[in-house]
Order: sequence, then C-alpha cells, then structure tokens
Amino acid sequence: MNPIKKDRFSIVFNQDGYLELVDFIKNNDFNKILILTDDNTKGNCLDIFLSSIKDANPEVSNLIKSKLFYYSVKPGENSKNIDTSVEIWKFLIEKGFKRVDLLINLGGGMITDLGGFVASTFMRGIKFVNVPTTLLGMVDASIGGKTGIDFREIKNIIGVFGFAKIVLVDYRFLTTLNKRQKTAGYAEMIKHILISKTSELYKVKKVDSMEDIPHKMIHQSIITKVSIIDVDPLESDIRKFLNYGHTIGHAIESYLLGTDRELFHGEAIAIGIILETYLSFLKTGFDYDLANDIKMHIHKHFGSIEFSDSDISEIINLLKHDKKNNDDKPMFVLLENLGKPLINQAVIDREIMEAFKFYKD
Ligand SMILES: NC(=O)c1ccc[n+]([C@@H]2O[C@H](COP(=O)([O-])OP(=O)(O)OC[C@H]3O[C@@H](n4cnc5c(N)ncnc54)[C@H](O)[C@@H]3O)[C@@H](O)[C@H]2O)c1
Repeated sequence: MNPIKKDRFSIVFNQDGYLELVDFIKNNDFNKILILTDDNTKGNCLDIFLSSIKDANPEVSNLIKSKLFYYSVKPGENSKNIDTSVEIWKFLIEKGFKRVDLLINLGGGMITDLGGFVASTFMRGIKFVNVPTTLLGMVDASIGGKTGIDFREIKNIIGVFGFAKIVLVDYRFLTTLNKRQKTAGYAEMIKHILISKTSELYKVKKVDSMEDIPHKMIHQSIITKVSIIDVDPLESDIRKFLNYGHTIGHAIESYLLGTDRELFHGEAIAIGIILETYLSFLKTGFDYDLANDIKMHIHKHFGSIEFSDSDISEIINLLKHDKKNNDDKPMFVLLENLGKPLINQAVIDREIMEAFKFYKD
C-alpha cells in the first residue's frame, strides 16, 4: 500500500508503516513516549503493535523500552471528556513529560480524538502519532487534524486542530473488531465514495459482507479524505463536503442517545446518507434510481429502523437547534450528482418528512 505523504503528516501502512514509525522515533530521539489505549485496544492491539515495532527494528525497540509509558482509559464515548483529559495531563506531568516527547494514540476515534486533544494542548502541543484500530478510525477519525472532547452532552464542542505527524494504518487490527463496529465505519466509506470525483459506486455494490471490503477500497477512502482536508484543513469551504449525511445523521444520533434504540455514529450517518440523498433528488436533481440503489445497499448492511411521526418532528426540532447552525437554519450538503457536492443548501420541514418516508418505503 503506497504511503500518503503531506507537509503536515504522513499516512503509512502495515509493515512498511512500522519501519517509518521506527525511523521517526529514532530521528526525533524522544526521551519519553506515552502509549494511550482504551481497555479493549490494550487487550487486542497493544501486543501486536509492540511486537511489530520490534520486528521492524529490534535495536530501536530495545532502546525505547525504558522510555515507554502506558495509560489506558475505559472504552466508549463516555471517556472522551475533560475529566479523562485532566487525568492524562496529570500523568504526563507526574512522569516528567516535556514538549519534546511523544504520545501514541492506539485506538478507535474515541482515543485518537481524546489523545490528539491532550497532546495538542499539553505544553502548547507535543508531537503525536495515531494508530487507528477501527474502520471508522482508519478512514476518518484519525486523519485530518480534528481533535477534541465532548462537554456538557455536546459532542466535540471543545477541541483544537492538531495533526498527528504519522498515521499508521495496520489492517490486522480490524480482525478483532466486531461486525457492528465495522459496519459503522463502512458508512463513512460510502460517504467518501459518494462525494468523490472518482466515484466508484459500482465497487461498493459488490461488497456483500464486511469481510469483503478490500484493503484497496479502504486505502482509496483515506485518499478521498486526505485530498479534501489537504486543500481546506480548517473547514472554510470544501471540507464541508465531508459533512454529507451528517446534518440529519447527527440529529438522529443525538435524538436516540441514551435510549434503548441508541445508534453508533456511523449507523446514524448511514440513515443520514439515505435521507440527504433523497433531499438531493428533490433539491438538486440527483438521479432518483441512483438514490434508490444507494438506499437498498445501505439497508442491506444496516437494516432499517422505525421512526414514528413524533420521532420525526423531534428530530427536525433538534436539527433547528443544532448549535453549529447559523440563525437556527440547518444547512445541508447535497449532491448534484456523484462526486458533485453542493454546500449550504437549505431545505424545509416538509421535504425532510418526505425523505423519512423514502427511507421507510
Ligand atoms: N476527528 C474526526 O475527524 C472524527 C471523525 C469521525 C468520528 N470521530 C469520533 O470518533 C469516535 C468514534 O470512533 P470509533 O467508532 O472508532 O469508536 P471507538 O473508538 O469508541 O471504538 C469503538 C469500540 O471498539 C473498540 N475497539 C477499537 N478497536 C478495536 C479493535 N481493533 N478490536 C476490538 N475492539 C476495538 C473500542 O474499545 C470501542 O469499544 C467518536 O468520538 C467520533 O466523534 C472523529
């Protein structure tokens, strides 16, 4: 797999990736290195990570042994908060970390968001490396410099832009990820394919199960995200394309949070993609049959959930009060065609209700 090299960061893959990481560690001569995990990635991924460093360069692996520190947090979104950040900052101070030291985030999006935030704020920013262990982490969360935590029930409301120097993608980590988690990450891959100029929708249709996702397709998905954030890292313009499916998806995610119907982020985004593809048909002339094809493919992998009329009006209410809106007006990214997103599109309630009907039929 070819590495992706940019000024701010490199994305490297598998064994070659470990060689690059070891070189990076050697060249920077860090005094201390903290590996941040959650308890699942500590159990499933840490040994693989450490033994791969050793295979890549036994000498460096030996040399850094005395410099390594470990910190593990409870798995789940609940750990992505200010209290956990404070605990990790305290740990870094107690262990004598300095500005020249390194943090390695080994985990899914929760860990790379949290660790990236802690590293970017500790002593005004220390270097960090992301080693994503979920599909969502690989194609989305670990790339692009958005780091942050949830605060007062608002997701990602506190954060900074900070780029991992290296993102190391090791596909072996996907083998211990459960099917539901993998499918959730697949939603962001579908999104990337829909907004990408080199749209490869026909390849998506060949994906029959989560075991069938070719690594090449994951690599391509990463390239799509990088090509966008490279041009617009701070989301002033085309980075908004990446919000396709997210306007309604976020509202659905928030609405179901804490209920027995709670969804993973990617599952809510998959529903958002169906609804926003239908809105694209209504507002910008996106092909209806194609919208239907996309819906069928998503239903096949994600199934479908019921929304009552009162669910729908609550979700529309949430959309209007989303703190990210200007003037209480939710703005959508819609598709004119595959690979042709349009930003800042307004829709009315009736159209959203119609989109829910399309989702259900
Ligand atoms: N920064 C960004 O640009 C960006 C983009 C999208 C999402 N996100 C954030 O990412 C987070 C969601 O990421 P996620 O879906 O990776 O969730 P996650 O990190 O919570 O991981 C999901 C679950 O899988 C477990 N897990 C992780 N890797 C594993 C492995 N290899 N084997 C077995 N279990 C494993 C975790 O312990 C956890 O229980 C959210 O906080 C979201 O806000 C950030």
